[in-house]
Formats: sequence, C-alpha cells, structure tokens
Amino acid sequence: MEVKVQKKTKLRPVAVPPGVEPEDLVNTPVIQEAARVLREGGLVAFPTETVYGLGATGLDSEAVAGVFAAKGRPADNPLILHIAAVEDLQQIVPEVPPLARTLAQSFWPGPLTIVLPKGPVVPAITTGGLNTVAVRMPDHPVALALLAAAGVPVAAPSANISGRPSPTEAAHVMADLQGKVDIILDGGSTSVGVESTVVDCTGPVPVILRPGGVSREALEEVVGRVELDPHVQGGEEIHGPVRSPGMKYRHYAPEAPAVLIRGEPPELFRRLTALANELEAQGETIGLMVSRELLGYWREHGVDGSRWQVAVMGSRTNPSEIAANIYRCLRELDETDVTQIILEGISARGVGLAVMNRLQKAAANRIIDV
Ligand code: TXA
Ligand code: MG
Repeated sequence: MEVKVQKKTKLRPVAVPPGVEPEDLVNTPVIQEAARVLREGGLVAFPTETVYGLGATGLDSEAVAGVFAAKGRPADNPLILHIAAVEDLQQIVPEVPPLARTLAQSFWPGPLTIVLPKGPVVPAITTGGLNTVAVRMPDHPVALALLAAAGVPVAAPSANISGRPSPTEAAHVMADLQGKVDIILDGGSTSVGVESTVVDCTGPVPVILRPGGVSREALEEVVGRVELDPHVQGGEEIHGPVRSPGMKYRHYAPEAPAVLIRGEPPELFRRLTALANELEAQGETIGLMVSRELLGYWREHGVDGSRWQVAVMGSRTNPSEIAANIYRCLRELDETDVTQIILEGISARGVGLAVMNRLQKAAANRIIDV
C-alpha cells in the first residue's frame, strides 16, 4: 500500500501594493524561502495573473512527479514551464522561430503560452511524453520574483485538484491542496481569472489549443491569421488523439451537474428563468451563474429568485469581469446544496471565447441554444 506523507503546508501572505516590481520582492525572506523550497525539489503554489500555479523545478523529474501526484493529474497531460525573462526561452527549446519570437516579444509577460519542439534539458515527464514543450512568462510580480529567485524554469499547472475549477484565490488552493504542498504564496485574487491562451507555434500558422487570457483577435493583430483547434469549439466528447492532452479531460467541473444556456437577451433571460422554474418543479435545488443584467430583468419582470442560489459573474458588457469571476462562482456553488446548476452563456468574442470554453466544459457539453 502506498504511504502518503502529509506535508505541513505553510500559507505565506505576500503584500502586493500597486506598482510593486518583481525586483522589490525578489530578496524578501518569503520569496527566498519559497525559491529554496523549489530548488530543493519541493512544491510551491503561487499567484499568476491568470490563476494560481502549483510549481516545481521543471527540469527535475522527481520534483515534477510530485506535482502530478499532488494534483492527481493524468501522466499524459503535460505541464507549462514558467520563465522569468523572454531570453530564458532559449535554454528550453533548441530554436525560437520568428513567429514564436514575435509572440513572446508582444505578449510576455502575459497570459500566453507558446508550444515549441522541446530541447533535451526538458524531462519527458514534464511534457507528458510529447516532443513539444509549453512555455510562458507570467505577468505577476510574485510569480516573476519567485521565478527569478529560483533561477530555474518552473513547471506549474493550475493549483487545483485535477478536474476541479482552477484557483483564483489562495483559499481555493488551501481547500484543494492543503497537506500536499510545502508553501502557498498568497498574493490575493488573480486579475485575469482564466488560464493562459495556449498556442502551438510548431507550424507556419499559430494554432490556439486552449483559448485564454489573450484573445484570438489580439493575436491576429500581431501575427495575422491564427487558427483555432477544432476541439476548442466542438460540442462533442473527445476520443482518440488530440494536439493538447488537456482538451480531452473533463475540467472546471462543479459538483452538481450544470447546463449552459446560450442566446441573446431578453429571450435568453426569459428561457433561463423558465428553465430554473421547471427544474425546481422537478424537485431540484437550483444554482445559477448569471450576469448582473439578468438580475435587472428579474427586477423589471417581478421574478422572485430568492429560492435559488445565485452567483453573479459580472456584466455581459464586460467579459473580462466575467472571466475574473467564473471559477470563484463555480466554487461558491459547490459550497451550497444545489443539485442542478444553470450557466448563462455570453458572447464568444475576445476573452469571451475562453469564458465560453470553460462554461462549456463545466456543463460537460450540455448546451441549450435559445
Ligand atoms: O494560466 C495558465 O496557463 C496556468 C498558470 C498557472 O500559468 N497554468 C495552467 O496549467 O493552466 P495547466 O497545466 O492547468 O494547463 C496546461 C494546458 C493543458 O491543457 C495542457 O494539455 C496544455 O497546456 N499543454 C501543456 N504542454 C503542452 C504541449 N507540449 N503541447 C500541447 N499542449 C500542452
Ligand atoms: Mg489546469
């Protein structure tokens, strides 16, 4: 039988005043302590601008094995290497093609992950056995200070138990990984709220494998045509080989079954409300993830939603606000006794594409178009 040793997880607050630079943090005792833990093969959860990451030295197979074990992550789902500077990319891949260089220079630090053929320093366990590697330079002072202090590329998946919503607050990491990681750096809520955009740059035209914090439109402004992997939008369950193993796993799933309803207000609001009433009549306890505009519709039409658990994602006119809140809302509903969740869809433009990709996964592809 496997003996599991519980770690004594330390929760370390890091003050991040507005305008603080990574250089201001790199020599602080808390960052130095966390960097030492990483170099010694331990696990450090840290904030990035997207979601919290669960970090280990990315070039050390044993340390990386610890990440897979802590998350309960399938071995064929590769990790992203995080670096402190654009130039560090050269240590990881044998060649930086012009397309990748342009993207790195335009979007790093930031929520963009670039996939390239890997160099020999990267162990197979990090890339899930693939001959490519995913790399990104995050845009968060705590992450950048930690990466600089550690002096090594850090493999870091989102710091959640596999299959659960990604963590956007240190408390979410605690809930999932307490006893499994050495240190959690608490830098407050993350700003972007959905993970990085993963772009395959191994061919002549970049292909989005996972929509995220950098929109397709923003990428196209810089490099022209950008393709979307067909699996990103497909409503079908995925079988067989995929270009990014993360695509095929059920993800971001709340505990109660969810259904995603798409369309335009006011018809969308009318149908969503009718669906909540209908499911309630069938004996379900209803949870809703909706826009502020839906609440306005209820007020106008005298709908009493007080029997339902309502998590407000933000305004339909501000997809960035919604992106920042969806994982927290999913976790909030998990803490209630709801038996059925209804998710309000938004426009798939800009960062809305990433939002809709996550909501679709949360709904396990149960989608209603109205
Ligand atoms: O924003 C983010 O990207 C966060 C923060 C912590 O940086 N990290 C993150 O990592 O979301 P993770 O492991 O939860 O998701 C990584 C995604 C997965 O879908 C994985 O399949 C894909 O990137 N991926 C990693 N390496 C790849 C590769 N070599 N080829 C294709 N896809 C890859
Ligand atoms: Mg993840």
